[in-house]
Amino acid sequence: MPFPPRFLDELRERIALSQLIGKKVKLTKRGREYIGLCPFHHEKTPSFTINDDKGFYHCFGCGAHGDIIRYLTDSERMPFMEAVEYLARMAGLPMPKIKEESPERRQEYQTELQIMEEACVFFQKCLFSERGRRARAYFQNRGITPDIAKQFRLGYAPSGSALLAYFTEKGLSVQKAISLGLIVDKTDSHTRHDYFYDRIMFPILNRRRRVIAFGGRLLEKGEPKYLNSPETALFHKGEQLYALPNAVDTMRKKNQAILVEGYMDVIALHSAGFTNAVAPLGTALTENQIRLLWQGCDEPIICFDGDMAGRKASIRAMNRAIPILTPGKSLQFVFLPEPFDPDDMIRKKSPQAFQEALNNAKTLAYTLWNTLTDGRSLDTPERRAKLEKDATDIIAKIQNEQVRAYYMKDLKKKLWQLEHRKDARRSSLSFGEAQGISRPNADLLAGRMLLAYLICFPKVVQNVLEDLANLELGEASLQHILQEATDCLINNPDMTSEELINAVLPEGSKTIPEIEMLQKSNRTEEDVRIELSKWIQALQLKALQAEHEAKLHEFSQNPTAELWENIAKIKKEIENLSTSD
Ligand code: UTP
Ligand code: MN
Repeated sequence: MPFPPRFLDELRERIALSQLIGKKVKLTKRGREYIGLCPFHHEKTPSFTINDDKGFYHCFGCGAHGDIIRYLTDSERMPFMEAVEYLARMAGLPMPKIKEESPERRQEYQTELQIMEEACVFFQKCLFSERGRRARAYFQNRGITPDIAKQFRLGYAPSGSALLAYFTEKGLSVQKAISLGLIVDKTDSHTRHDYFYDRIMFPILNRRRRVIAFGGRLLEKGEPKYLNSPETALFHKGEQLYALPNAVDTMRKKNQAILVEGYMDVIALHSAGFTNAVAPLGTALTENQIRLLWQGCDEPIICFDGDMAGRKASIRAMNRAIPILTPGKSLQFVFLPEPFDPDDMIRKKSPQAFQEALNNAKTLAYTLWNTLTDGRSLDTPERRAKLEKDATDIIAKIQNEQVRAYYMKDLKKKLWQLEHRKDARRSSLSFGEAQGISRPNADLLAGRMLLAYLICFPKVVQNVLEDLANLELGEASLQHILQEATDCLINNPDMTSEELINAVLPEGSKTIPEIEMLQKSNRTEEDVRIELSKWIQALQLKALQAEHEAKLHEFSQNPTAELWENIAKIKKEIENLSTSD
């Protein structure tokens, strides 16, 4: 493709399909889509739909489907180049300068692809021949089935310059194999040998499924563990993603991609049904690769290894994405537990465990706030000002004005929250994590009162035992007594107050002064019932309000519909409780 991929995307962004097709076809708006008579087949009732947001048309009558370019080449029978020129004019964009490819260069390109294909077939054959026995055992050991090996065209590069021998024997161009990085030519010693030997071979396919490079993993321990083809005329590693052609359909269908670090992670994920997994090629994620991912989905999930290197690589990916965020397009992050990589996670834990990790993916915004504030002391005005400055500097890098504005708004909100938190100045604070709710003394009093009623009037509490057992008293020793006392009464409903005191309170304990107070007062059972239910209600309310606050905070970091529903439910419970007397 002679055009920079961004240019075609830009055209797709600037020109609404309805605007283009509307010139020829009468369209009516229906919800988010347009509908009209299909220009690709004759029909009397419209089954042709256009979705401008997605940039696609689709005909339910004849199955015609495509974008602005496809529309012109298919319906108007314009040659591709002409279609692009037409659209560029319509969008008011200058045509990018294109290096005219000479027929010779095009021929050479075809030959190069053939050479790579030959090598790939050779490695595949080796895997399933006598020479590949150890490699097959290795595959089996790592849970790679022959089916998966075929699907990914995995192979084995034997030692002893087997490929060179094969090329010589078949009369294939060794010179080309040298320029494609398959064979090493040592000019000083006039010797040639294979670049990959005794390695498992992972062919790297471009989007047209042509082999353009290889990655090779040593069978035995050694260095380097993985070796990739060098940069060649065919292969620019920063512009490719491993397994993209295998993953692209699922990626589009699920509007989700999983980006992992290694070849083996990709293979393990595809084997376990996560067929939208891809990987960069042994380098840090590039801008081009992020754009490639965005062509298939809106918020690809970065799921690197759970070690320090993986975490750092995630942050680097985040920083790479920040300048090029656009409305709707972002990244998500999964941080696996140390020291798992996705392959370990699936094989040593389970695919479900991995799915759970995915479900727990964090948004880019969340991850950004977290990295900015994690472990940072914010106990002085200067330190908080520095946080604001650092955050603003990063946000300023976002080129898209709209996205940048929303990040600024978010930042303002978070800084405001920081100023208005009671405990913000005390210690470092990590945005987003629900903060432990510090309970003021009033709660402790409520807890002690409750226990006092429980211990002094065991008969009265019988019908609220369940509620009591579920209360949170906010203090470990009180919680322990509550647990013991409710357990006693559940097992032995006839226990008297004296027996209970002996059973659950350390001898002579003054932990609960309220007990003495209650023993001395002359309360009727009816008094106790009323007062007790008030204390229970107060504690339940406190717990719900704390939960409500924590969830609201979480929502401000990561607003999901599910969470919002959850919050609404809690709110309702709070209202019910507050009005129930
Ligand atoms: P890892 O070392 O994490 O390997 O490298 P892995 O995928 O877990 O491999 P196994 O499970 O031991 O087989 C992750 C990726 O980094 C690149 C490769 O792309 C690899 O898949 N890499 C790693 C290299 O390019 N060279 C190396 O020497 C090591
Ligand atoms: Mn691994």
